[in-house]
Amino acid sequence: MKKIITYGTFDLFHKGHYNILKRAKEYGDYLIVGVTGVNYDIGRGKLNVHDTLATRIENVKNTGFADEIIVEEYLGQKIEDIIKYNIDTFVIGDDWKGKFDHLSRYCDVVYLERTKGISSTQIRKKTFEQYTIGIICGDYADDNQIINESELVNEFEVKNIYCEDKKILNLFQQKFNLENIYTSMSKLIEASDVIYVRSTITKRFDAIYHSLKCGKHVIYDPPATFKPSELKELFKLSKENKAILMENNKMVYIYVFNQLLWMTQGGLIGDILSFNCSISKTDENRSNLFYDLSAISLLPMLKIMGLNYDHANFKVKKNGSDIEFASMHFVYPNGLAIINVGNNIRVDNHVEIIGTKGTIRMKDNWWRVKNFELHNPQSTDVQVYNTNFEGNGFKYLLKSLSTMIENNRIEPMGVFEDESMKIVEILEQVKNNES
Ligand code: CTP
Repeated sequence: MKKIITYGTFDLFHKGHYNILKRAKEYGDYLIVGVTGVNYDIGRGKLNVHDTLATRIENVKNTGFADEIIVEEYLGQKIEDIIKYNIDTFVIGDDWKGKFDHLSRYCDVVYLERTKGISSTQIRKKTFEQYTIGIICGDYADDNQIINESELVNEFEVKNIYCEDKKILNLFQQKFNLENIYTSMSKLIEASDVIYVRSTITKRFDAIYHSLKCGKHVIYDPPATFKPSELKELFKLSKENKAILMENNKMVYIYVFNQLLWMTQGGLIGDILSFNCSISKTDENRSNLFYDLSAISLLPMLKIMGLNYDHANFKVKKNGSDIEFASMHFVYPNGLAIINVGNNIRVDNHVEIIGTKGTIRMKDNWWRVKNFELHNPQSTDVQVYNTNFEGNGFKYLLKSLSTMIENNRIEPMGVFEDESMKIVEILEQVKNNES
Protein backbone atom coordinates (compact mmCIF):
# COMPACT_ATOMS: atom_id res chain seq x y z
CA MET A 1 0.00 0.00 0.00
CA LYS A 2 1.43 3.37 -1.02
CA LYS A 3 1.01 5.96 1.73
CA ILE A 4 0.83 9.65 0.91
CA ILE A 5 0.94 12.64 3.24
CA THR A 6 0.11 16.29 2.57
CA TYR A 7 -0.28 19.39 4.74
CA GLY A 8 -2.08 22.69 4.73
CA THR A 9 -4.15 25.21 6.64
CA PHE A 10 -7.21 24.71 4.40
CA ASP A 11 -8.78 27.95 5.58
CA LEU A 12 -11.99 29.03 3.79
CA PHE A 13 -11.89 25.79 1.85
CA HIS A 14 -11.70 26.36 -1.90
CA LYS A 15 -11.28 24.63 -5.26
CA GLY A 16 -7.47 24.72 -5.04
CA HIS A 17 -7.61 22.72 -1.81
CA TYR A 18 -10.08 20.23 -3.32
CA ASN A 19 -7.89 19.72 -6.38
CA ILE A 20 -4.69 19.11 -4.47
CA LEU A 21 -6.33 16.61 -2.11
CA LYS A 22 -7.87 14.79 -5.08
CA ARG A 23 -4.54 14.55 -6.87
CA ALA A 24 -2.67 13.61 -3.71
CA LYS A 25 -5.07 10.73 -3.15
CA GLU A 26 -4.64 9.59 -6.76
CA TYR A 27 -0.88 9.41 -6.13
CA GLY A 28 -1.25 6.43 -3.81
CA ASP A 29 -3.66 4.24 -1.85
CA TYR A 30 -3.87 5.86 1.55
CA LEU A 31 -3.89 9.62 2.15
CA ILE A 32 -3.02 11.33 5.43
CA VAL A 33 -3.79 15.05 5.63
CA GLY A 34 -2.08 17.25 8.19
CA VAL A 35 -4.14 20.31 9.08
CA THR A 36 -2.24 23.11 10.85
CA GLY A 37 -3.04 23.67 14.52
CA VAL A 38 -3.95 27.12 15.84
CA ASN A 39 -0.78 27.70 17.87
CA TYR A 40 1.43 26.46 15.06
CA ASP A 41 -0.11 29.03 12.71
CA ILE A 42 0.09 31.84 15.24
CA GLY A 43 3.71 30.94 16.01
CA ARG A 44 4.71 31.16 12.35
CA GLY A 45 2.97 34.53 12.01
CA LYS A 46 -0.09 33.27 10.12
CA LEU A 47 -2.61 35.30 12.07
CA ASN A 48 -5.29 35.58 9.44
CA VAL A 49 -6.71 32.10 9.59
CA HIS A 50 -10.47 32.55 9.83
CA ASP A 51 -12.03 29.09 10.21
CA THR A 52 -11.67 27.12 13.42
CA LEU A 53 -9.52 24.00 13.38
CA ALA A 54 -12.70 21.90 13.69
CA THR A 55 -14.22 23.54 10.58
CA ARG A 56 -11.02 23.14 8.59
CA ILE A 57 -10.81 19.46 9.52
CA GLU A 58 -14.48 18.97 8.70
CA ASN A 59 -14.01 20.52 5.24
CA VAL A 60 -11.05 18.25 4.47
CA LYS A 61 -13.07 15.27 5.69
CA ASN A 62 -16.06 16.20 3.51
CA THR A 63 -13.98 15.81 0.33
CA GLY A 64 -13.87 12.08 1.05
CA PHE A 65 -10.21 11.93 -0.10
CA ALA A 66 -8.53 11.78 3.32
CA ASP A 67 -8.20 8.36 4.93
CA GLU A 68 -6.79 9.95 8.06
CA ILE A 69 -6.53 13.52 9.33
CA ILE A 70 -3.88 14.68 11.78
CA VAL A 71 -3.05 18.07 13.29
CA GLU A 72 0.29 19.72 12.57
CA GLU A 73 1.29 21.26 15.87
CA TYR A 74 4.94 22.25 15.65
CA LEU A 75 7.83 23.07 13.35
CA GLY A 76 9.69 19.90 12.38
CA GLN A 77 6.71 17.60 12.93
CA LYS A 78 6.66 16.54 9.27
CA ILE A 79 9.76 14.34 9.66
CA GLU A 80 8.33 12.62 12.70
CA ASP A 81 5.03 12.04 10.89
CA ILE A 82 6.76 10.57 7.83
CA ILE A 83 8.61 8.08 10.03
CA LYS A 84 5.68 7.35 12.34
CA TYR A 85 3.13 6.74 9.55
CA ASN A 86 5.64 5.02 7.26
CA ILE A 87 4.99 7.44 4.41
CA ASP A 88 6.08 6.76 0.82
CA THR A 89 5.37 10.16 -0.73
CA PHE A 90 5.09 13.69 0.57
CA VAL A 91 2.87 15.85 -1.66
CA ILE A 92 2.50 19.64 -1.60
CA GLY A 93 1.57 22.47 -3.99
CA ASP A 94 4.32 23.95 -6.14
CA ASP A 95 4.10 27.29 -4.33
CA TRP A 96 6.45 25.44 -1.95
CA LYS A 97 8.79 24.21 -4.71
CA GLY A 98 12.23 23.42 -3.33
CA LYS A 99 11.23 24.16 0.25
CA PHE A 100 10.77 20.52 1.24
CA ASP A 101 13.60 18.89 -0.70
CA HIS A 102 15.30 18.00 2.59
CA LEU A 103 12.46 15.51 3.24
CA SER A 104 13.65 13.38 0.31
CA ARG A 105 16.01 11.55 2.71
CA TYR A 106 12.89 10.07 4.29
CA CYS A 107 10.42 9.65 1.39
CA ASP A 108 9.63 10.85 -2.15
CA VAL A 109 8.80 14.52 -2.41
CA VAL A 110 6.34 15.64 -5.07
CA TYR A 111 5.32 19.23 -5.86
CA LEU A 112 1.97 19.40 -7.67
CA GLU A 113 0.92 22.35 -9.77
CA ARG A 114 -1.13 24.82 -7.79
CA THR A 115 -4.64 25.70 -9.04
CA LYS A 116 -4.37 29.12 -10.60
CA GLY A 117 -6.24 32.22 -9.51
CA ILE A 118 -7.41 31.22 -6.07
CA SER A 119 -6.09 31.27 -2.50
CA SER A 120 -7.41 31.66 1.05
CA THR A 121 -5.66 35.04 1.25
CA GLN A 122 -7.54 36.25 -1.80
CA ILE A 123 -10.91 35.07 -0.45
CA ARG A 124 -10.23 36.70 2.93
CA LYS A 125 -9.48 40.02 1.26
CA LYS A 126 -12.71 39.86 -0.74
CA THR A 127 -14.94 38.56 2.04
CA PHE A 128 -13.94 40.44 5.14
CA GLU A 129 -14.18 44.08 5.83
CA GLN A 130 -10.99 46.14 5.70
CA TYR A 131 -10.38 48.88 8.23
CA THR A 132 -8.25 51.94 7.71
CA ILE A 133 -5.95 52.97 10.51
CA GLY A 134 -4.99 56.60 11.00
CA ILE A 135 -2.08 57.62 13.21
CA ILE A 136 -2.12 60.72 15.36
CA CYS A 137 1.58 61.25 15.74
CA GLY A 138 3.22 62.82 18.78
CA ASP A 139 6.50 64.63 19.23
CA TYR A 140 8.67 62.01 17.57
CA ALA A 141 8.46 60.45 14.11
CA ASP A 142 7.99 56.85 15.06
CA ASP A 143 5.14 54.46 14.24
CA ASN A 144 5.92 51.87 16.94
CA GLN A 145 6.04 49.32 14.08
CA ILE A 146 2.26 49.39 13.55
CA ILE A 147 2.74 49.89 9.80
CA ASN A 148 4.81 46.75 9.25
CA GLU A 149 2.93 44.68 11.79
CA SER A 150 -0.49 45.57 10.37
CA GLU A 151 0.59 44.06 7.06
CA LEU A 152 0.35 40.67 8.74
CA VAL A 153 -3.25 41.23 9.78
CA ASN A 154 -5.58 41.23 6.78
CA GLU A 155 -8.28 43.44 8.21
CA PHE A 156 -6.12 46.50 8.70
CA GLU A 157 -4.15 48.93 6.64
CA VAL A 158 -2.40 52.03 7.95
CA LYS A 159 -3.14 54.78 5.44
CA ASN A 160 -3.57 58.08 7.26
CA ILE A 161 -1.32 60.32 9.29
CA TYR A 162 -1.85 63.52 11.20
CA CYS A 163 0.73 65.44 13.15
CA GLU A 164 0.43 68.88 14.67
CA ASP A 165 4.15 69.52 14.19
CA LYS A 166 4.97 69.88 10.49
CA LYS A 167 8.64 69.03 11.00
CA ILE A 168 7.81 65.72 12.68
CA LEU A 169 5.20 65.02 10.01
CA ASN A 170 7.81 65.48 7.27
CA LEU A 171 10.23 63.20 9.06
CA PHE A 172 7.49 60.63 9.49
CA GLN A 173 6.56 60.75 5.82
CA GLN A 174 10.19 60.47 4.75
CA LYS A 175 10.34 57.22 6.68
CA PHE A 176 6.92 55.72 6.00
CA ASN A 177 5.32 57.53 3.08
CA LEU A 178 1.67 56.91 4.00
CA GLU A 179 -1.13 57.41 1.50
CA ASN A 180 -2.89 60.38 3.09
CA ILE A 181 -1.58 63.29 5.13
CA TYR A 182 -4.05 65.29 7.18
CA THR A 183 -3.47 68.77 8.50
CA SER A 184 -6.54 68.64 10.71
CA MET A 185 -7.06 66.06 13.42
CA SER A 186 -10.81 65.90 12.90
CA LYS A 187 -10.36 65.22 9.17
CA LEU A 188 -8.02 62.31 9.96
CA ILE A 189 -10.51 60.93 12.47
CA GLU A 190 -13.31 61.23 9.96
CA ALA A 191 -11.30 59.39 7.28
CA SER A 192 -10.18 56.47 9.51
CA ASP A 193 -11.92 53.48 11.11
CA VAL A 194 -9.32 52.98 13.81
CA ILE A 195 -7.18 55.73 15.32
CA TYR A 196 -3.79 55.00 16.81
CA VAL A 197 -3.15 57.78 19.30
CA ARG A 198 0.57 58.12 19.63
CA SER A 199 0.54 61.72 20.86
CA THR A 200 2.50 62.80 23.84
CA ILE A 201 0.67 62.16 27.11
CA THR A 202 -0.56 65.72 27.60
CA LYS A 203 -2.40 65.54 24.26
CA ARG A 204 -3.67 61.99 24.38
CA PHE A 205 -6.93 62.63 26.17
CA ASP A 206 -8.05 65.17 23.62
CA ALA A 207 -7.21 62.93 20.66
CA ILE A 208 -8.87 59.88 22.21
CA TYR A 209 -11.91 61.88 23.28
CA HIS A 210 -12.56 63.21 19.78
CA SER A 211 -12.01 59.84 18.15
CA LEU A 212 -14.44 58.08 20.48
CA LYS A 213 -16.95 60.89 20.11
CA CYS A 214 -16.95 60.13 16.36
CA GLY A 215 -17.51 56.45 17.08
CA LYS A 216 -14.00 55.43 15.97
CA HIS A 217 -12.09 52.61 17.62
CA VAL A 218 -8.96 53.75 19.41
CA ILE A 219 -5.61 52.22 20.22
CA TYR A 220 -3.61 54.46 22.51
CA ASP A 221 -0.23 54.43 24.17
CA PRO A 222 -0.87 54.32 27.92
CA PRO A 223 -1.39 56.18 30.14
CA ALA A 224 -4.23 58.01 28.41
CA THR A 225 -4.08 60.85 30.90
CA PHE A 226 -2.79 61.83 34.35
CA LYS A 227 -6.33 62.20 35.65
CA PRO A 228 -8.45 59.20 36.69
CA SER A 229 -11.63 61.23 36.15
CA GLU A 230 -10.68 61.78 32.50
CA LEU A 231 -10.01 58.09 31.94
CA LYS A 232 -13.41 57.32 33.43
CA GLU A 233 -14.95 59.73 30.97
CA LEU A 234 -13.22 57.94 28.09
CA PHE A 235 -14.52 54.55 29.21
CA LYS A 236 -18.02 56.00 29.38
CA LEU A 237 -17.69 57.51 25.93
CA SER A 238 -16.38 54.23 24.52
CA LYS A 239 -19.50 52.41 25.72
CA GLU A 240 -21.93 55.13 24.67
CA ASN A 241 -20.48 55.26 21.17
CA LYS A 242 -19.82 51.54 20.85
CA ALA A 243 -16.20 52.28 20.02
CA ILE A 244 -13.38 50.11 21.32
CA LEU A 245 -10.83 51.77 23.57
CA MET A 246 -7.72 49.62 23.55
CA GLU A 247 -4.59 50.26 25.54
CA ASN A 248 -1.41 49.57 23.61
CA ASN A 249 0.12 47.15 26.03
CA LYS A 250 1.16 44.47 23.58
CA MET A 251 2.51 42.09 26.18
CA VAL A 252 -0.94 40.86 27.21
CA TYR A 253 -1.71 39.70 23.67
CA ILE A 254 1.41 37.55 23.44
CA TYR A 255 0.84 33.87 24.03
CA VAL A 256 3.77 33.25 26.39
CA PHE A 257 2.74 36.10 28.71
CA ASN A 258 -0.58 34.38 29.19
CA GLN A 259 1.27 31.21 30.14
CA LEU A 260 3.14 33.25 32.73
CA LEU A 261 -0.12 34.68 34.06
CA TRP A 262 -1.68 31.25 34.17
CA MET A 263 1.22 30.00 36.28
CA THR A 264 1.26 32.90 38.69
CA GLN A 265 -2.50 33.39 39.03
CA GLY A 266 -3.18 29.65 39.09
CA GLY A 267 -0.81 29.06 41.99
CA LEU A 268 1.70 26.97 40.03
CA ILE A 269 4.63 28.78 41.66
CA GLY A 270 2.85 28.84 45.01
CA ASP A 271 1.98 32.02 46.87
CA ILE A 272 3.65 35.07 45.35
CA LEU A 273 6.01 36.72 47.83
CA SER A 274 7.73 39.24 45.66
CA PHE A 275 7.40 41.00 42.31
CA ASN A 276 10.40 42.97 41.17
CA CYS A 277 10.57 44.75 37.87
CA SER A 278 12.92 47.24 36.25
CA ILE A 279 12.75 49.12 33.01
CA SER A 280 14.75 51.97 31.53
CA LYS A 281 15.24 53.77 28.26
CA THR A 282 17.47 56.58 27.21
CA ASP A 283 15.54 58.59 24.70
CA GLU A 284 16.28 62.29 24.96
CA ASN A 285 13.57 63.29 22.52
CA ARG A 286 10.64 61.97 24.44
CA SER A 287 9.20 64.10 27.17
CA ASN A 288 7.27 62.30 29.85
CA LEU A 289 8.73 58.95 28.77
CA PHE A 290 8.80 58.01 32.44
CA TYR A 291 5.01 57.64 32.52
CA ASP A 292 4.91 55.46 29.42
CA LEU A 293 7.53 53.12 30.88
CA SER A 294 5.73 53.01 34.21
CA ALA A 295 2.41 52.11 32.60
CA ILE A 296 4.07 49.13 30.88
CA SER A 297 5.64 47.94 34.15
CA LEU A 298 2.69 48.42 36.47
CA LEU A 299 0.35 46.27 34.43
CA PRO A 300 2.04 42.89 35.05
CA MET A 301 2.36 43.81 38.73
CA LEU A 302 -1.37 44.50 39.02
CA LYS A 303 -2.23 41.34 37.13
CA ILE A 304 0.02 39.16 39.26
CA MET A 305 -0.10 40.81 42.70
CA GLY A 306 -3.62 42.19 42.38
CA LEU A 307 -5.12 45.68 42.60
CA ASN A 308 -5.36 45.85 46.36
CA TYR A 309 -2.05 46.69 47.97
CA ASP A 310 -2.06 48.08 51.53
CA HIS A 311 0.10 51.09 50.86
CA ALA A 312 2.69 52.48 48.46
CA ASN A 313 5.91 54.46 48.73
CA PHE A 314 7.58 56.35 45.93
CA LYS A 315 11.15 57.59 45.70
CA VAL A 316 11.31 60.01 42.82
CA LYS A 317 14.29 61.76 41.24
CA LYS A 318 13.35 64.70 39.07
CA ASN A 319 15.23 66.71 36.49
CA GLY A 320 13.22 69.88 36.11
CA SER A 321 9.64 68.75 35.66
CA ASP A 322 10.68 65.43 34.10
CA ILE A 323 11.06 62.34 36.27
CA GLU A 324 14.42 60.66 35.63
CA PHE A 325 14.03 57.76 37.98
CA ALA A 326 11.47 56.39 40.42
CA SER A 327 11.41 53.41 42.71
CA MET A 328 7.82 52.49 43.47
CA HIS A 329 7.21 50.14 46.39
CA PHE A 330 3.86 48.47 46.97
CA VAL A 331 3.18 46.57 50.17
CA TYR A 332 0.63 43.81 49.65
CA PRO A 333 -0.88 41.75 52.50
CA ASN A 334 1.44 38.81 51.66
CA GLY A 335 4.18 40.27 49.54
CA LEU A 336 6.09 43.18 48.19
CA ALA A 337 6.34 44.67 44.72
CA ILE A 338 9.11 46.98 43.60
CA ILE A 339 9.05 48.76 40.26
CA ASN A 340 12.14 50.71 39.21
CA VAL A 341 11.77 52.98 36.22
CA GLY A 342 14.65 54.91 34.70
CA ASN A 343 14.24 57.60 32.10
CA ASN A 344 17.77 58.43 30.94
CA ILE A 345 19.10 56.68 34.06
CA ARG A 346 20.00 53.17 33.11
CA VAL A 347 18.77 50.23 35.15
CA ASP A 348 18.97 46.58 34.24
CA ASN A 349 15.74 45.50 32.51
CA HIS A 350 14.30 42.47 34.20
CA VAL A 351 11.33 40.94 36.01
CA GLU A 352 11.59 38.51 38.90
CA ILE A 353 8.56 36.92 40.50
CA ILE A 354 9.26 34.86 43.59
CA GLY A 355 6.69 32.33 44.73
CA THR A 356 6.83 29.78 47.53
CA LYS A 357 7.22 26.99 44.93
CA GLY A 358 9.32 28.65 42.23
CA THR A 359 10.74 31.78 40.70
CA ILE A 360 10.01 33.27 37.29
CA ARG A 361 12.54 35.48 35.54
CA MET A 362 12.40 37.58 32.39
CA LYS A 363 15.31 39.55 31.02
CA ASP A 364 16.20 42.29 28.56
CA ASN A 365 13.21 43.51 26.55
CA TRP A 366 10.86 41.66 28.88
CA TRP A 367 7.84 43.75 27.75
CA ARG A 368 8.04 41.96 24.41
CA VAL A 369 7.92 38.63 26.29
CA LYS A 370 9.51 36.19 23.97
CA ASN A 371 10.46 33.94 26.84
CA PHE A 372 10.64 33.46 30.58
CA GLU A 373 12.54 31.12 32.87
CA LEU A 374 10.98 29.04 35.61
CA HIS A 375 13.41 28.16 38.42
CA ASN A 376 12.52 25.40 40.79
CA PRO A 377 13.97 25.97 44.27
CA GLN A 378 14.24 22.20 44.86
CA SER A 379 16.50 21.55 41.87
CA THR A 380 18.97 23.19 39.53
CA ASP A 381 16.56 22.64 36.64
CA VAL A 382 15.51 25.69 34.67
CA GLN A 383 12.56 25.45 32.36
CA VAL A 384 12.32 27.97 29.52
CA TYR A 385 8.95 28.92 28.08
CA ASN A 386 9.05 30.76 24.82
CA THR A 387 7.22 31.93 21.77
CA ASN A 388 8.96 32.89 18.58
CA PHE A 389 7.88 35.88 16.60
CA GLU A 390 9.46 38.71 14.76
CA GLY A 391 8.71 42.33 15.49
CA ASN A 392 7.26 43.83 18.63
CA GLY A 393 3.98 41.90 18.88
CA PHE A 394 1.70 44.68 17.60
CA LYS A 395 0.16 42.18 15.19
CA TYR A 396 -1.26 40.17 18.10
CA LEU A 397 -2.95 43.25 19.53
CA LEU A 398 -4.36 44.08 16.09
CA LYS A 399 -5.60 40.54 15.67
CA SER A 400 -7.38 40.79 18.99
CA LEU A 401 -8.92 44.09 17.89
CA SER A 402 -10.21 42.57 14.66
CA THR A 403 -11.80 39.69 16.61
CA MET A 404 -13.47 42.21 18.92
CA ILE A 405 -14.84 44.18 15.98
CA GLU A 406 -16.13 40.98 14.39
CA ASN A 407 -17.80 39.89 17.64
CA ASN A 408 -19.18 43.36 18.42
CA ARG A 409 -17.31 43.38 21.68
CA ILE A 410 -16.43 46.75 23.16
CA GLU A 411 -14.42 46.01 26.31
CA PRO A 412 -10.94 44.58 25.74
CA MET A 413 -9.98 41.64 27.89
CA GLY A 414 -6.24 42.15 27.60
CA VAL A 415 -6.18 45.11 29.94
CA PHE A 416 -9.25 45.50 32.14
CA GLU A 417 -10.80 48.84 32.95
CA ASP A 418 -9.94 48.67 36.66
CA GLU A 419 -6.31 47.90 35.79
CA SER A 420 -6.01 50.94 33.52
CA MET A 421 -7.71 53.07 36.18
CA LYS A 422 -5.34 51.88 38.87
CA ILE A 423 -2.31 52.66 36.73
CA VAL A 424 -3.50 56.21 36.15
CA GLU A 425 -4.26 56.61 39.87
CA ILE A 426 -0.75 55.46 40.78
CA LEU A 427 0.89 57.71 38.21
CA GLU A 428 -1.15 60.67 39.39
CA GLN A 429 0.22 60.06 42.87
CA VAL A 430 3.78 59.71 41.61
CA LYS A 431 3.39 62.91 39.63
CA ASN A 432 2.24 64.73 42.72
CA ASN A 433 4.98 62.92 44.61
CA GLU A 434 2.63 61.58 47.22
CA SER A 435 3.17 58.26 48.94
N1 CTP B 1 -3.12 24.94 -2.98
C1 CTP B 1 -3.24 24.72 -4.36
N2 CTP B 1 -3.83 25.66 -5.15
C2 CTP B 1 -4.26 26.82 -4.63
C3 CTP B 1 -4.15 27.05 -3.23
C4 CTP B 1 -3.56 26.09 -2.44
O1 CTP B 1 -2.83 23.69 -4.84
N3 CTP B 1 -4.80 27.72 -5.43
C5 CTP B 1 -2.46 23.92 -2.16
C6 CTP B 1 -1.20 24.43 -1.49
O2 CTP B 1 -0.11 24.41 -2.38
C7 CTP B 1 -1.06 23.44 -0.35
C8 CTP B 1 -2.51 23.15 0.03
O3 CTP B 1 -3.31 23.57 -1.08
O4 CTP B 1 -0.44 22.28 -0.80
C9 CTP B 1 -2.95 23.88 1.28
O5 CTP B 1 -2.68 25.26 1.06
P1 CTP B 1 -3.03 26.43 2.04
O6 CTP B 1 -1.80 27.16 2.37
O7 CTP B 1 -3.91 25.97 3.10
O8 CTP B 1 -3.95 27.34 1.00
P2 CTP B 1 -3.72 28.77 0.42
O9 CTP B 1 -4.95 29.12 -0.36
O10 CTP B 1 -2.42 28.86 -0.30
O11 CTP B 1 -3.69 29.64 1.76
P3 CTP B 1 -3.06 31.08 2.09
O12 CTP B 1 -3.56 32.02 1.05
O13 CTP B 1 -3.56 31.38 3.47
O14 CTP B 1 -1.56 30.90 2.05
